[in-house]
Amino acid sequence: MNQENRSIFNEDYSKSYDLIYEKKNYNDECNRIIKFIKYKKSVSNILDLGCGTCSHSIILSKYGFNIDAIDRSGKMLEIAKKKIEKKKISNIKLIQADIENLDLKNAQYDVILLLFNVLGYLKKPYLFFSNLKKYLKKGSLVIFDFWHESAIIQNGPKKTKKNFEKAEVNLTKISQGKVNQKDKTIIINIQTYEKEKNAVITKNEEEHHIKYYNIESLTLNLINEGFKVLKFEDFENDGCLPSKENWSAYCVSKYLG
Ligand SMILES: C[S@@+](CC[C@H](N)C(=O)[O-])C[C@H]1O[C@@H](n2cnc3c(N)ncnc32)[C@H](O)[C@@H]1O
Repeated sequence: MNQENRSIFNEDYSKSYDLIYEKKNYNDECNRIIKFIKYKKSVSNILDLGCGTCSHSIILSKYGFNIDAIDRSGKMLEIAKKKIEKKKISNIKLIQADIENLDLKNAQYDVILLLFNVLGYLKKPYLFFSNLKKYLKKGSLVIFDFWHESAIIQNGPKKTKKNFEKAEVNLTKISQGKVNQKDKTIIINIQTYEKEKNAVITKNEEEHHIKYYNIESLTLNLINEGFKVLKFEDFENDGCLPSKENWSAYCVSKYLG
């Protein structure tokens, strides 16, 4: 993990995470994942890396897969655990670990997921793919979304300010990113302010260093590591190629063994 990223997804940001992303369409995203998963005939177990509060895994668990869900942030996992217990889900196992230093003994998975830009947070993404191979069988799928370079060059980061309200919580999130082209990274300053009766009761600030990828270089690296890229797709538009309008793209790749 990036040194700079060590202390992110801390207690305050994790507590606000599900409210901030309440409108993110995890259901549609999971329908898309299910479509991608059909590239493999039978799937029984899934590894969700950088699972966060487990919104994807919880939806996918309904399909009966056995899911191991890993995150580095204990605070994100605490929230995931509460959600899983509340829904009485028994086929998700939570593990706290750094996914760049995985030690899962003899486990092997049909599908490995890294969703919502988890790849961007890694310090050595290509070494990561190389290490991941021991957890894959011949024909296993690795599915991830990532930010792609040509969209970022076309449309740089903008400052955003958003408000979120639920019950008595009133939260403001201000994000501002800057591009570091040399390291192909966007450094995003995220400030959250939780208010009660117009007075700020908690202020939190995190700096996220998120890598973006050139699609051609990513393809070459995946091929070098023994993967076949089955498809790149635009994150917003099902069935369409990545576009310069949207930073996010999906990659579906198959391990050739
Ligand atoms: C943007 S969140 C995505 C969470 C979840 N996948 C979702 O879609 O809501 C990125 C997650 O990746 C986790 N993460 C980043 N780097 C990691 C690492 N090296 N090891 C384990 N988890 C990591 C963070 O703690 C965070 O929960």
